[in-house]
Amino acid sequence: RGPLRRAPRRFGTVAGVSADLPQDRRVAPSILAADFSRLGDQVQTVLDAGARVIHVDVMDGHFVPPISIGAAVTASIQERVRAANGFLDVHLMIENPERHVAEFAEAGADSIAVHVEATPHIHFALQAVREAGCHAGLALNPGTPLSAVDSLHGSFDFLLCMTVNPGWGGQKWIPGSEDRVAALRSVLPSDVPIEVDGGVDADTAGPAAAAGAGLFVAGSSVFGSDDPASAYAELVAAAQAV
Ligand code: DX5
Ligand code: ZN
Repeated sequence: RGPLRRAPRRFGTVAGVSADLPQDRRVAPSILAADFSRLGDQVQTVLDAGARVIHVDVMDGHFVPPISIGAAVTASIQERVRAANGFLDVHLMIENPERHVAEFAEAGADSIAVHVEATPHIHFALQAVREAGCHAGLALNPGTPLSAVDSLHGSFDFLLCMTVNPGWGGQKWIPGSEDRVAALRSVLPSDVPIEVDGGVDADTAGPAAAAGAGLFVAGSSVFGSDDPASAYAELVAAAQAV
């Protein structure tokens, strides 16, 4: 049974036990850049290459202009990721994400990141993610003041720092993003990883790592390559070189 056939859950239900949040450096291939006509194979390729965090970009046509994928596609890769002892990392680029947390938890998300810009109820949204049994990510757009985290310390488990403007894969890393990562690193507890998302490639992964990033989302630099397994390995090497 897929998530579309289930009655919606209410906030406060626990969907299950999530995989542990990785504390070491991990490259997280983003399926946004995959060939959707053979999504299972593409995910399997990077799992076989050693990837354990698979990033899922959900866009609603409101918070960001494009519409991408939802809970049904997320659920379709859940078994593969689980079988590899992997971690399903869902990034909600949608308005009022709190309304959709339960369906993504049900679809197998281990973590769900919600944007501070997407709801007047960010604390509630983060709370809903945790109550659904998932690790809660606070996502910040490039133009959002870093002080947005000030009143939310303790309410999230990792910080997703956008290093491009959300909505499209294949953009260039915004110069200076590494300074934002470093500034965030200096105010966040050491067990709260920073995930960089957008424009991560073999050139930008090193500076991001040096600034304190722990999770490296990579879409086009992995799936845009003729050889995603080698591209993944190259990124891991770049992220671990510093
Ligand atoms: C952008 C998404 C990213 C995207 C990154 O809105 O949040 O996760 O997949 O793609 P690349 O790695 O191509 O910049
Ligand atoms: Zn993303």
